[in-house]
Amino acid sequence: MTRAADAHVRALEAPPTGVWSAPGRVNLIGEHTDYHGGLVLPIALPQRTTAACAARDDDRLRVHSVQAGETVEVDLADVGPGRPSGWAAYVAGVLWALREDGFAVRGLDVTVDSEVPLGAGLSSSAALECAVGAAASDLFGLGLLEDDASRARLARACIRAENDIAGAMTGGMDQSASLLCREGHALLLDCRSGETSHVPFDLAGHHAPGGAGTGGHVLVVTDTRAAHALNDGQYEARRRVSEAAAAALGLVSLRDVDPHHLDDALSRLDDEQARRTRHVVTEIARVRAAVEALEAGDLRAVGRLFDASHASLRDDYEVSCDELDVSVEAARSAGALGARMTGGGFGGSSIALVPARSAEDVVAAVAEAFAERGWTPPRSFTVTAGRAAARDS
Ligand code: GLA
Repeated sequence: MTRAADAHVRALEAPPTGVWSAPGRVNLIGEHTDYHGGLVLPIALPQRTTAACAARDDDRLRVHSVQAGETVEVDLADVGPGRPSGWAAYVAGVLWALREDGFAVRGLDVTVDSEVPLGAGLSSSAALECAVGAAASDLFGLGLLEDDASRARLARACIRAENDIAGAMTGGMDQSASLLCREGHALLLDCRSGETSHVPFDLAGHHAPGGAGTGGHVLVVTDTRAAHALNDGQYEARRRVSEAAAAALGLVSLRDVDPHHLDDALSRLDDEQARRTRHVVTEIARVRAAVEALEAGDLRAVGRLFDASHASLRDDYEVSCDELDVSVEAARSAGALGARMTGGGFGGSSIALVPARSAEDVVAAVAEAFAERGWTPPRSFTVTAGRAAARDS
């Protein structure tokens, strides 16, 4: 029995009828572009959130969290913005959103257990939503896991849970990654059209000419353990300014800025709006370039794009922080081909593209840089591209 199923029996005093799980993500590149209709390139993490569940024949939700060590109960009719609050909002919000979409969803008994580090910018909240969404789809016969179009529909319900009930105005990349990614691949998602393609992402086997050596490569994730929250106002403030910039340019979103006429667009904006806009427009171009470089097996070029993305997020979008900057600098100085913050920023995690032979040096260099500054030790680990949300048993 999984730990979630075991905990379910103890906390809710009845057996679950199944176990579902969904992954966290790291975004390789394309940061703060999703809510501008831009391009993103996430991979699903091997780390997953598990939901042991049983359908109920009333409208009550009982949800237990192994990490929080508590059980929350709520009637689905009482779910609304800010109700329930805290972690349970992400669970209740999914059932709420599916009902809003007209699906016949009843109550659930749920126990959640997460391997995705919480609050680390690795989308633990999307993993939670998508695990519960997958369970609800199967238990109530909604068919939302059957193909990519249905999965995209389920992703939209999970996004509404996060935006409307949990109060985090995030852009949707995380839920799409958790539901649409494929093992061994990065997901190229056009956040305007919803079009997807799956870009092979297998660093261990990366021996192509133009690559950087033949010993294989790894992606090192470092959870800086600097506080990170997406509903504390900073994320939304960035979003507001950049959306106002699009409006000032008479555009629906910054996706519509012609990169060839970027300077002209920037000259029509105030300084803050111009810097935010420059980030979004150049970052979308970097996603296209990264896909080309990956397809060509040119990991040095991917590394340079990581570096440029980090500089743009740090200087123009201003969503980095000391811990993220120090972790990417230390990784580069110990042999990474490139490194950047990933996710929303203001804390959270960084990623580094590293020749396998230098992986230990990179992890040690980051740890040492943190120790020198007296910071909480970071947690570093290597990841491969995992699979999307699914039923496990
Ligand atoms: C968070 C949000 C995403 C996206 C990223 C930044 O992860 O949840 O929607 O905006 O930040 O790219």
